[in-house]
Amino acid sequence: MENSNVKKHIIPPEFLEPNWRFWSFILLAIIGIYLMMLYQVPVHDGLTDPFYSPTVLVLPLVVLFRATCYAYRKDYHRHLFDHPNSCLTNARLDSSKRQYTGETRFFRIEDFHRYFMYTAWAILPFFYYDVYVSWTYSGAFTLTLGSIILLINTLAVTFYTFSCHSVRHLTGGYKDCFSCPSNLTKKRSFFTFQSKFNEHHEALAWTSLIMFIFTDLYLRGILAGLPLNITFIHLGL
Ligand code: FES
Repeated sequence: MENSNVKKHIIPPEFLEPNWRFWSFILLAIIGIYLMMLYQVPVHDGLTDPFYSPTVLVLPLVVLFRATCYAYRKDYHRHLFDHPNSCLTNARLDSSKRQYTGETRFFRIEDFHRYFMYTAWAILPFFYYDVYVSWTYSGAFTLTLGSIILLINTLAVTFYTFSCHSVRHLTGGYKDCFSCPSNLTKKRSFFTFQSKFNEHHEALAWTSLIMFIFTDLYLRGILAGLPLNITFIHLGL
């Protein structure tokens, strides 16, 4: 039950508290976005920065996809807002004045995660296209350290997106009785397969995010003149 005093306000109490962790995070995010806009690295040596792939066209939706992801949600509610610290112990820190507000008021936006997921699927082919361009941009098949990093980043995003809880719902999680004989279909084997990835969703979420940032920094290093783009294979087409 929500506290009637705070129910009237759309702004959750988390945003109004003198919370240095949250505001430091916001400050760092603003500085990071500003620097990215100031020093853009769209394409270099056939390597497209994942932040400037078509991602940039739908950036708000992709940011919302990540921001409403269950894995990050848990982390920012616990570590930025410090609430709830845990669901099963007293460390949850609920009180009549300070209740968990996830998925209510402003945080109702978290309910739209399943729709943001479609935008994440829509941009995946562009990442694979960028990998293809990095292999062929010179008119020859060229395998460089940069193209391998782009491929790893693309695979990391793919596994992260595929392991999403909303995919789990789409592939069978909406059934009331999943083990009933009438539901023992091929769909169930796909659901079971997807569940194996879903079990590692949080690790995949952080791996993918770190890989995204690493790829961006790597390309900036090349642009700064560092000899980072080693060529392994160069075959004429
Ligand atoms: Fe994390 Fe969907 S729950 S991407």
